[in-house]
Amino acid sequence: MENVLLGKKALNFILLLFSLLIFVNAQPKGYIYEESKVVNYSLPDPLICNDGKKVGSKNFWNEKRRNEILQLFKDEVYGNSPQKLIRTEFEVIEKETVALGGNATRRQVVIKVSNANRSLDINLLIYSPNGMKFPVPAFLTINFHGNHTVSSDPEIKITQSWVRNRNGIKNNRAREMDRGISSSRWSINQVIESGYAFATFYYGDVDPDFHDGFKNGAHGLFETEIRTKRKDTDWGSIAAWAWGLSRCMDYIHEDSLFDHKQIAIMGHSRLGKTALWAGAIDERFALIISNNSGCGGAALSRRRFGETVKRINTSFPHWFCENYKKYNANEEKCPVDQHMLISLAAPRPVYIASAEGDLWADPKGEFLSAIGAEPVYKLFGYGLGVTEQPSVNEPVHGRIGYHIRTGKHDVTEYDWEQYLKFADKHFE
Ligand code: GCU
Repeated sequence: MENVLLGKKALNFILLLFSLLIFVNAQPKGYIYEESKVVNYSLPDPLICNDGKKVGSKNFWNEKRRNEILQLFKDEVYGNSPQKLIRTEFEVIEKETVALGGNATRRQVVIKVSNANRSLDINLLIYSPNGMKFPVPAFLTINFHGNHTVSSDPEIKITQSWVRNRNGIKNNRAREMDRGISSSRWSINQVIESGYAFATFYYGDVDPDFHDGFKNGAHGLFETEIRTKRKDTDWGSIAAWAWGLSRCMDYIHEDSLFDHKQIAIMGHSRLGKTALWAGAIDERFALIISNNSGCGGAALSRRRFGETVKRINTSFPHWFCENYKKYNANEEKCPVDQHMLISLAAPRPVYIASAEGDLWADPKGEFLSAIGAEPVYKLFGYGLGVTEQPSVNEPVHGRIGYHIRTGKHDVTEYDWEQYLKFADKHFE
């Protein structure tokens, strides 16, 4: 018996070593993955104004400091999105009251945004729970590969927008055969069963994710302005995707299906960065969820753990504004760090989710951002509820929510269970 037990232990140990090896190799080389290698850094204080005044009340925060931080993020990190009001039209192009086995009603809406002779279509897919009293709260999400990939529902329109050439796609066109390929990331049935509507759109509808000098997508829509040269403070792609979330919110506000005061936004990875920025610039979003958002999202840049500012600006030169490149290997000179992005969500509930195997996104740095944002939440009488990073799979659901789960960079059923509990708790 003892031998069997020892054998089992040895096998578990070998398996653990093996998975550690795979996991270490999955991270790009030459970056920091050990806490002992993190440089000394000090964070800018979200409660000290540019003129040195200390914020002591929520009113002072709302009237002065919040705007200062928001403007710093616009000018130095994500870029300024156009303020111009342009024409937005909505058309419900399809509706089916017996969807998802009868539990939901499906709607597909085209949000047409026009400026002069240019226009852009955002396709919003909505499932709402049947047999519920309306209006309902909702999760508005942004997806990576097209609405047709979030569920195998054969009626979902296939995107006509540019898609990445991957898994055998060669011509940047979406395929019938990819229906449902990302469905494991979207617990749509659980969302519906919990009494929420689920809405999603494809990020490529708003801005194709490659660097074309900001000609296509939402940037192209504003090309007609009398501006020939982009400014260093102009918006990048993350700001464009966030702008797309706001255009979907414009539609949601017109539709009596939704409880307009209870709309949560959620995004994963680069789209988790997007959700955080959208929540900062558009206060209509009542709850904000960042899943494994990492560098330029929830993780503190000054730690230089995993992905760095230099690396992200080099691999993805179109995501941020030009000014952000000033902070390549120079993070400490940036007047903001990402805890201040989280603080812009206050006093609304915000959730930061990390994964143990996602060192590239710096789970600890994501947690420390939540800690760094807490003084702002405290002005409103709210907090995170812990001072140390919780153990894996031990979520905390204060006004700032946080968990680190086992597993890799991904969105899982476990993540969605937490988001639903968190929304149930904070959307009373
Ligand atoms: C890359 C990038 C990350 C990003 C991720 C994603 O790994 O370095 O910053 O979050 O892609 O969006 O999937």
